[in-house]
Amino acid sequence: MSKQGQNESKPPLQHLAIIMDGNGRWAKKKGLPRIAGHHQGVQAVVQVVDECVKLGIGYLSLFAFSSENWGRPKQEVDALMELLLQFLVSQRQKMLDNGIRLRVIGDRSRLSESVCRALTAAETETAAGRTLTMILALSYGGRDEILRAAKKLAAQTAQGRIDLQSFDSKQFSALLDTQDIPEPDLLIRTSGERRISNFLLWQAAYSELYFTDVLWPDFDTRELHRALEDYRQRKRRFGLTDDQLDSSETLQPQGENPLNSVS
Ligand code: FPP
Repeated sequence: MSKQGQNESKPPLQHLAIIMDGNGRWAKKKGLPRIAGHHQGVQAVVQVVDECVKLGIGYLSLFAFSSENWGRPKQEVDALMELLLQFLVSQRQKMLDNGIRLRVIGDRSRLSESVCRALTAAETETAAGRTLTMILALSYGGRDEILRAAKKLAAQTAQGRIDLQSFDSKQFSALLDTQDIPEPDLLIRTSGERRISNFLLWQAAYSELYFTDVLWPDFDTRELHRALEDYRQRKRRFGLTDDQLDSSETLQPQGENPLNSVS
């Protein structure tokens, strides 16, 4: 599908989110250590990022390390962090050349100083990128993100900076890690699991969901196109009726479209 093809696609797809699952099972099937699955998973990430750039998809969110993943054996956690650092180094020039901007969401306070430093440097260096925003969810949990936002809200309310009477979901969204990022249009999960496992809980309220049995290390451009083709067949309703949909060309989730006062 050409960049033009993506722009013409109906419904439009601005933000793709992916739960990259199945690295461990991929490795086990091959009699390899789990980390070999994560290594191969990075190759799949590289392919998908390249294809998103080609297709003109503006935002790609990748669930790379959940708040629950801290409970994995230390050896695996360390290996994942090392892979992340290698990824930042190996992709640096490509990100700069292709206008890829890196954004990190999640609780950074749990990441090591060296990982934080590398992430902040990569975010700063790529900040001018306008082709694709690659959002890495690291030490991320949807509930944790909402809780952190609620605490900010409580603190700002206590300081008298918030009028709770008029406070709405758009203002709440602005307190989340994803504050200036549009909500995901399509959320893909690989490996046959059919749940969203604490990923973008608030933001995925109206996302289309796509589940595939393919394990993440085997996910490639062909599988991506399959998912996008499936998405193109969807009719997004945002809680409205067909008549309302027909009279409005570009619908956005609640809070961003006047029609969305209907639930
Ligand atoms: C889930 O597979 C995957 C993860 C917990 C980590 C995802 C990480 C990568 C794809 C590589 C690093 C990414 C970047 C961007 C550098 P799993 O281990 O839960 O697999 P399983 O369910 O089969 O055990």
